[in-house]
Amino acid sequence: MTAKIISGREVAEQILTTDLKNKVIALNEKNIKPKLVVVLVGDVKASASYVAQKEKFAVKAGIESEVRRFKKDVTEDEILTVIDNINNDKSIHGVIVQLPLPDHISVAKVLNRIHPSKDVDGFTPTNVGKLFLGEDTLVSCTPKGIMQMLASTGTNLTGKNVTVVGRSNIVGKPVAILCLQQHATVTMCHSRTKDLNAKLADADIVIVAVGIPKFIHGDQIPEGSIVIDVGIHNIDGKLCGDVDFDSASIKASSITPVPGGVGPMTVCALIENTIIAAERIG
Ligand code: GUN
Repeated sequence: MTAKIISGREVAEQILTTDLKNKVIALNEKNIKPKLVVVLVGDVKASASYVAQKEKFAVKAGIESEVRRFKKDVTEDEILTVIDNINNDKSIHGVIVQLPLPDHISVAKVLNRIHPSKDVDGFTPTNVGKLFLGEDTLVSCTPKGIMQMLASTGTNLTGKNVTVVGRSNIVGKPVAILCLQQHATVTMCHSRTKDLNAKLADADIVIVAVGIPKFIHGDQIPEGSIVIDVGIHNIDGKLCGDVDFDSASIKASSITPVPGGVGPMTVCALIENTIIAAERIG
């Protein structure tokens, strides 16, 4: 079998330039101009390129975006004050603090300071708790993008076996909850799972977000399954994911590429969350 490629780039482009653009036009007619602020600390190269993509996608959907840049020696208090000002600024609907932050700044403290109504990353305890409880909330972007990509394949998750490899707060755990909400049977695995192959053997859908290059190989992928690869790594100047694409793509029925898979969907979900926040805040 040769897998069909699930192009996150194409799905994101479609969502941005139709659904989201139309929602922005409707908001603009009510004199609401959705605006996203990205707080960027230090000079992490990968962060700079992610932020540039966020700005590009904001333009495609027709929303405003602004990057507030700070030197890596900025204090935690200064960043907390920046967040307070954004929380109180009625012209701003969504804020994210690009991670990672320098070691002297507490990620938990900074994220907790963001008002949940503007938390378009879906990282605050309030929004994570609401997701867990199945309440309407701002859902974190990578899991949201993964669900949209699965939807784009026409897959109904009811009764399907989903194996998630990776248990992070921002991908593994929330995507497992979202799959459960769609009535899938979810198996959670991670880098220390015993007999990972057995846990993968009956998967209809494999979601890999373990942060280790080419951690999963084709011989672990069930024939005909759907594979979602969340990882992105630069190995000797070449990008790869957490899945060995070449061997996995001859087993899977559909697979996401790296780059051009989950990455663009994550950014698209961020823009969508900003629009949802604007619709709610007004
Ligand atoms: N750094 C890498 N991915 C993300 C993300 O989804 N949100 C934020 N805020 N920072 C990141």
